[in-house]
Amino acid sequence: MKVTKRPISKLSQIDFTDLKFGKHYTDHMLVKTYKDKAWGDSAIVPYEDFLISPANITLHYGQSIFEGMKAFRGVDGIVRLFRPEKNIARLNRSAERMAIPEMPDEEKTLKELIELVTMDQDFTPGHMGSSLYIRPFIFAMDPALGVKISDTYCYMVIMTPVDAYYGKNLQTLSIYATKQFTRAALGGTGHVKAAANYAQSLYAAKKAQEKGYKQIMWLDYLEHKYVDEVGTMNMMFVINDTLITPTLDQGTILAGITRESVLHIARDLGWKVEERRISLEEIITASKNGTLQDCFGTGTAATIAPVGRIGYDDGEDIIINNDTVGPYAKIIYDELLGIQYGKIEDRFGWTVEIKK
Ligand SMILES: Cc1ncc(COP(=O)(O)O)c(C=O)c1O
Repeated sequence: MKVTKRPISKLSQIDFTDLKFGKHYTDHMLVKTYKDKAWGDSAIVPYEDFLISPANITLHYGQSIFEGMKAFRGVDGIVRLFRPEKNIARLNRSAERMAIPEMPDEEKTLKELIELVTMDQDFTPGHMGSSLYIRPFIFAMDPALGVKISDTYCYMVIMTPVDAYYGKNLQTLSIYATKQFTRAALGGTGHVKAAANYAQSLYAAKKAQEKGYKQIMWLDYLEHKYVDEVGTMNMMFVINDTLITPTLDQGTILAGITRESVLHIARDLGWKVEERRISLEEIITASKNGTLQDCFGTGTAATIAPVGRIGYDDGEDIIINNDTVGPYAKIIYDELLGIQYGKIEDRFGWTVEIKK
């Protein structure tokens, strides 16, 4: 792979005690283009702005997909990726649904990404909860105003040092279950990481924020009865000592890699786990009869995000664990981050060490 190095590193310009999500980028990025029905060679180049046509298809019709993954600096100083092959596989699944050409060789795609991380690993912060957030993405490049599948594309990977999305310490957040808006419907794109999914969610999230909640909890598109997911997180509820999370079989929810990992850890800990539809009504009833023991979101950016309050259209807020971090969320947080930061043994073989 061709590598062009930035002559002077930006590392010293970054205040690692104040990392805003996506404010600073590392020295380099990875670029690969698609034309004449084939992906070209990848190159690592200095991170910089680039020119696109005002008629670029992505700007007008949003033919664009992305991934989000992280590298963690362990307590031993070693930088580790977490299940990165899952992100590459999901990128290809998103590509297929959005009529974007898939990356032909997932192993090579991962190897190239690892090369980029290895080069810029000094940008990985060292404190608990922080990480190097890695953003692979593909977008259409044709300048063409007709609605059509683009013939040309660009794949890029950029990286930014970050703190946890919802604050440095494990703290609760509030969410609002909306019946007014819908995130995804059967046959749509809810199960893939298409940029368009996020564009349409912003207005609803803004409305929730105006009501005093941090995020929207999306309900199913048909009856607005069952939980789908929240912002950039999958949802987990603990009722009667059973961890319950919405099933993926409706095709309206992103198959989160954190979700899968949390379910795996929970089963390994001997917890009862159910992947099934869960209605808002069931959560309200469990809250009223004292069997709702915990609620948290899972996601790469959010990590484990305990939920302390759930609002909804026609009733009083559900308060969980007195709006403090619940016991199940705390156990999962310690287990997951323990593996990611090399604090506990990686018993599932999930991490990939970056060579110094
Ligand atoms: C809509 C949505 N749901 C769930 C998730 C969690 O997925 P993951 O755990 O793979 O980050 C994300 C974040 O990627 C997301 O954007």
